[in-house]
Amino acid sequence: MAAITLEHVVKRYGDGYPAVNDVSLQIADGEFMILVGPSGCGKSTLLRMIVGLEDVTDGEVRIGERVVNDVPPRDRNLAMVFQNYALYPHLTVFENIAFPLRLRQRPAGEVRQRVEEAAAVLELTEHLDRKPSQLSGGQRQRVAMGRAIVREADAYLYDEPLSNLDAQLRGQMRTEIARLQGRLGVTTVYVTHDQVEAMTLGDRVAVLRKGVLQQVDTPRALYERPVNLFVAGFIGSPSMNLVPATLEGRRLRLPFVEFDLPPAAIPPTSGPDGPDGTPMALVAGLRPEHFEDAALVAPAVRERGVTFEVKVEVVEWLGAEQYAYVPYGAQAEMVEPLHRLAAELDRESARLLLVASIDPASRIRRGDPAHLWFDPARVYLFDAATGDSLRPPTLDGHVPEYQDPAGH
Ligand SMILES: Nc1ncnc2c1ncn2[C@@H]1O[C@H](COP(=O)(O)OP(=O)(O)OP(=O)(O)O)[C@@H](O)[C@H]1O
Ligand SMILES: [Mg+2]
Repeated sequence: MAAITLEHVVKRYGDGYPAVNDVSLQIADGEFMILVGPSGCGKSTLLRMIVGLEDVTDGEVRIGERVVNDVPPRDRNLAMVFQNYALYPHLTVFENIAFPLRLRQRPAGEVRQRVEEAAAVLELTEHLDRKPSQLSGGQRQRVAMGRAIVREADAYLYDEPLSNLDAQLRGQMRTEIARLQGRLGVTTVYVTHDQVEAMTLGDRVAVLRKGVLQQVDTPRALYERPVNLFVAGFIGSPSMNLVPATLEGRRLRLPFVEFDLPPAAIPPTSGPDGPDGTPMALVAGLRPEHFEDAALVAPAVRERGVTFEVKVEVVEWLGAEQYAYVPYGAQAEMVEPLHRLAAELDRESARLLLVASIDPASRIRRGDPAHLWFDPARVYLFDAATGDSLRPPTLDGHVPEYQDPAGH
């Protein structure tokens, strides 16, 4: 096993566009690191540079202490599972898994033992004599993983290994990978599009945007303390509501409600007004799960939050969850930064539609007027021009729950 270190790594393909742009990242020995970001942000390129399938244009890649920029892939002792895994159709499952060991001419006894161990972990024991064409997609995927784990590699690299599977199998394999990691404790870099995989599998998550690393942190820290609009919009599902806002003193005006920010939530950089005395233009972030149907909030708690009237356009009741969708209007120029962000996040457009995740017990119905409630201390604020988070550091990640003085 080994740590992986990237220092100021750059990758320019033929046309000069930096697919990976000055990425520095330290992956500790035994750490499970997740790479996420929209399509085309450079995840696969980064992984392929670590394995050696792609030249590094600039910077340094180290495995353990060794600089590997010029080391051919076969001498790096890394195992990689690709999104489009290729099995050898004429070989049995056993021989497919054994392939890397045969290449290294390991003794037959050792090959048998390692393949059987891997097959047991991956629940492939009864399929060892079959051919890939006789297997389901999920089983094939597991064979590809088996081929990676029989090797005692210094690190394991996965490029969206579960993306071809249906939801149920995906969940099953996710648990399997988490268990495997728990047992083997090997250095792993794992690329995914999937929110659940990103939040549950990794020790830390690295968020990439257009080849540039935005933030590397634990899933919880990314969720609670996103450094900018991009990370805020990317981490969390359903994603954070990003709403154009203005701040004048402590008065925060959203298109659908205005209220005073609690003193601790006022950004230190804002001053009483914007630079020319006009209200400061911001983007406010409200997580869907921080809303509630006001009718279900205890009166004492309700008083300390913000309640506003809405007309719900769509309600989705899923049993364990319930979502209310509320359209709102806003001035075109204020929405501009949100459109740019939406484009980068691979979304159609910035929809002026508030998503609230409310208690499934709520009886809010489509078309009826209703009241939503939220805690103003939980509102995120971002600079509309730069997208940087404006949260005062003292409150960062420490989103206080309301203490009910009566103890309810
Ligand atoms: N061989 C290549 N030649 C030129 N440009 C490339 C090549 N491979 C990738 N790119 C470009 O580099 C950028 C990063 O691509 P990469 O495959 O790393 O993205 P990704 O984050 O893995 O995306 P996805 O989620 O769609 O797999 C993209 O803009 C892509 O067009
Ligand atoms: Mg990719």
